[in-house]
Amino acid sequence: MKTIREHLGAKLFLANLIVILVGILILVLTIQVTIPAAFNRHMGMMESTAMMGNGMGMGQGQGYGRTLFESFRASMFDALTYAVLASVVVALLVSLFLSRRIVAPVQNLADASLSLANGNYSERVQVDGSDEIAKLATRFNHMASQLEQVEAMRRQLIGDITHELRTPLTSIKGYMEGLVDGVVPANAETFNQIHHEADRLSRLVDDLQELSRVEAKAYSLDLRPVSVSTLVQTTLKRLSPQATAKRITLRSNLPADLEPVLVDEDRITQVLVNLTANAVQYTPEDGKVLISASQHGNEVYISVKDSGIGIPQEHLANIFTRFYRVDKSRSRNAGGGSGIGLTIVRHIVEAHGGRIWVESAGEGQGSTFTFSLNIAE
Ligand SMILES: Nc1ncnc2c1ncn2[C@@H]1O[C@H](COP(=O)(O)OP(=O)(O)OP(=O)(O)O)[C@@H](O)[C@H]1O
Ligand SMILES: [Mg+2]
Repeated sequence: MKTIREHLGAKLFLANLIVILVGILILVLTIQVTIPAAFNRHMGMMESTAMMGNGMGMGQGQGYGRTLFESFRASMFDALTYAVLASVVVALLVSLFLSRRIVAPVQNLADASLSLANGNYSERVQVDGSDEIAKLATRFNHMASQLEQVEAMRRQLIGDITHELRTPLTSIKGYMEGLVDGVVPANAETFNQIHHEADRLSRLVDDLQELSRVEAKAYSLDLRPVSVSTLVQTTLKRLSPQATAKRITLRSNLPADLEPVLVDEDRITQVLVNLTANAVQYTPEDGKVLISASQHGNEVYISVKDSGIGIPQEHLANIFTRFYRVDKSRSRNAGGGSGIGLTIVRHIVEAHGGRIWVESAGEGQGSTFTFSLNIAE
């Protein structure tokens, strides 16, 4: 039973068998039903011809014997004709019904794929049973939901980019209109504001370009053994001005016996700088940021830990999603982050075969971002 349910071949075989058996059954039943009547009719005809034969002076025994055999043959032929006709009709009906049942899901799939191709991404087919066609239907549904997701992401992306571009543009336009109308003073502060907004726009465009490059994997990694301490030193050097400006203690803590990691130095520096810049940005004055590393088997874990504003539990899962910000107004005021940084970081780490994750005890409790890298064998 299980084999039949799971295999289309077994179903087709069974359908053929049913058609043959039903044909035979109808044949036998019809013969049973029609033979007595046919026999009686031909026996009656035989008796009347026998009487006629006698009258014409034929040999009695010879005439009788032939007529009996012919009557038997004729009645057999009659019964068989009816039986064959009936069984062919019934077999045709049964096979029509069975093939409709087997073909119906294929037809559904054909209709659904046409509808999907026309952009109706919510299209799904009903999955009955577990044969090959049911498996095909399940996979079709999976494909449809993937396509639906991609389409939703595409819409979301366009919406996000539009929104991100509109904010600085509106601001620049506002300043310009104010200058033309003379309601905004034409002084250094105004020009600085305009410059600041234009700067945000160009940073955003650069980030978007970088994002599309890493998402499309349109870059090559120049993998070489690099010591973790080199990576960390470069990062510390690059971010100490920002940290000093906020009186944040930026330190590192690395074990002496760490093995070198196999990475593209520029790319991983970009990751570490990004994480550390976030840590500095999202930590209030007089806070602490610590970069540390440890070896686990043939991986090195690098962590950036801060004593900053932390990340509420419900945002942790989305933090690496592009354009995702915990508090949109806060990041904008605090320097205009657009929520692309961590998405780029995750792509780069994953391109190196590593993982990245974040831990935070909650708001005001600081955060720790950790990523893994393979050591150079
Ligand atoms: N160390 C951190 N502490 C607290 N929140 C953080 C930290 N790092 C990131 N976040 C949160 O995650 C969000 C996404 O970070 P991400 O770096 O991707 O974007 P961003 O810093 O807002 O902008 P940018 O694209 O310019 O980096 C931030 O807006 C912030 O809400
Ligand atoms: Mg950032």
